[in-house]
Amino acid sequence: MGVLILKERLMSKLIVANWKMNGSLSKVKSDLESYNSNPVTNNANVVLTLPMPYLSIASSIVDKQKLAAQDLSRFDGYGAYTGEVSASMLKDLNMAYALVGHSERRNILDESDDLLIKKVENLINHQITPIFCIGESLKVRQENEYFKFISNQLSFLVPALDKLSNLVIAYEPIWSIGTGVIPTNQQIAQMMDYIHSFMQKCANHVKMATLYGGSVTSDNAKSILSTSLVDGVLVGGASLKVNEFMAICSSSK
Ligand code: PGA
Repeated sequence: MGVLILKERLMSKLIVANWKMNGSLSKVKSDLESYNSNPVTNNANVVLTLPMPYLSIASSIVDKQKLAAQDLSRFDGYGAYTGEVSASMLKDLNMAYALVGHSERRNILDESDDLLIKKVENLINHQITPIFCIGESLKVRQENEYFKFISNQLSFLVPALDKLSNLVIAYEPIWSIGTGVIPTNQQIAQMMDYIHSFMQKCANHVKMATLYGGSVTSDNAKSILSTSLVDGVLVGGASLKVNEFMAICSSSK
């Protein structure tokens, strides 16, 4: 899957699109066909997280390894959990990745750290790589408590790390998501370094990639992707526009 052991760098950057609750059947078909026909997007390092109802049709258009879920149930397997989608089902579709812990799920859907770790464990059990999202609020940043905050979010992963072999961590400061405000390269590099040091101490067997997310566009992608320890980007709004997303993917070359 192109993720190398801590401190070793990816040969090619991982570009992950997060469509959130957007799209339509016709958009899925037309966008994915465009991505298929362009070598910039038709490669293993471009991953598309689509709304659940579209994953199945998407898997008939693009390589399944390029697709990811935006969420999954805390319950695994099958059973009486109306509305839930399990890791078993994602595995059935051959999903390579799933997002866990996006700040919108933590804050709007009230998902706790304990619940998120159950989701991570379910993914581990099915050999699906978690894209674990972390990031501090503006208040935490302004109070200079961001390393402590991130350390706490990461600490919930620790009990699961023994069973984990592949992990993607997406650092997405909440104050940057959808706002057009981006941290400086130095702020991103400091946080990446912090995450790597934390993980190195407790999980140096894990193959890990670290992404930056928050207001990534074709204008800033090259600079962000050239920042120390940034293995890729998680792209929200800009991933909904085909040309813009293709330009972001080109920036990784
Ligand atoms: P944005 O969203 O690129 O629109 O800021 C990123 C995200 O929420 O993953």
